[in-house]
Amino acid sequence: MTSLFDPIQLGTIKAPNRILMAPMTRARGTRGHIPTPIMVDYYAQRASAGLIISEAIGINQLGLGWPYATGLWMQEQIAGWRKVTDAVHENGGRIIAQLWQMGRVVHSSFLDGGQPVSASATTAPNMRSLSPFFSFCYFALERFYRSVFNSKFQETSVCCAVRIAVIMP
Ligand SMILES: Cc1cc2nc3c(=O)[nH]c(=O)nc-3n(C[C@H](O)[C@H](O)[C@H](O)COP(=O)(O)O)c2cc1C
Repeated sequence: MTSLFDPIQLGTIKAPNRILMAPMTRARGTRGHIPTPIMVDYYAQRASAGLIISEAIGINQLGLGWPYATGLWMQEQIAGWRKVTDAVHENGGRIIAQLWQMGRVVHSSFLDGGQPVSASATTAPNMRSLSPFFSFCYFALERFYRSVFNSKFQETSVCCAVRIAVIMP
């Protein structure tokens, strides 16, 4: 009987086992969407998976509305991801990139107040624009938290950003 630990061919990728790592946005990039050293460790530690699917990676600023998520449109971002893929390969792993275009749910605060671009001609469910004042308060608060607390607090801060900016009742 086939087991989880048997190899499998996935297109051109030969995975030594059937354990696939799902894409998971961790928001560990810089404010400019550049991968950080902690991400190199994170992915290298998981190289024994049959295949790693990276967290979603923005293809341009227009399509990336997630704080501290990373992109792949600037040289610095590419170099950062290259450190990740090199580390995974050095540890015997395989990794593919999940590319991301967030379309209509990119908040205008990521676009200098501009409108998002989408393939859909409809509004996203439960979406409402934040007032400029509300956006200002959020970003001011977020900056405050970042300057006062250590990095452990950053994840909570990012979580709030996602809930406030994307899912407004
Ligand atoms: C913190 C977190 C981040 C995630 N980021 C992504 C992502 O970047 N891309 C994606 O396709 N799915 C993402 N997912 C979805 C997971 O990859 C996975 O498909 C999902 O958790 C499966 O279980 P569920 O449907 O019960 O939630 C994310 C899930 C979590 C919990």
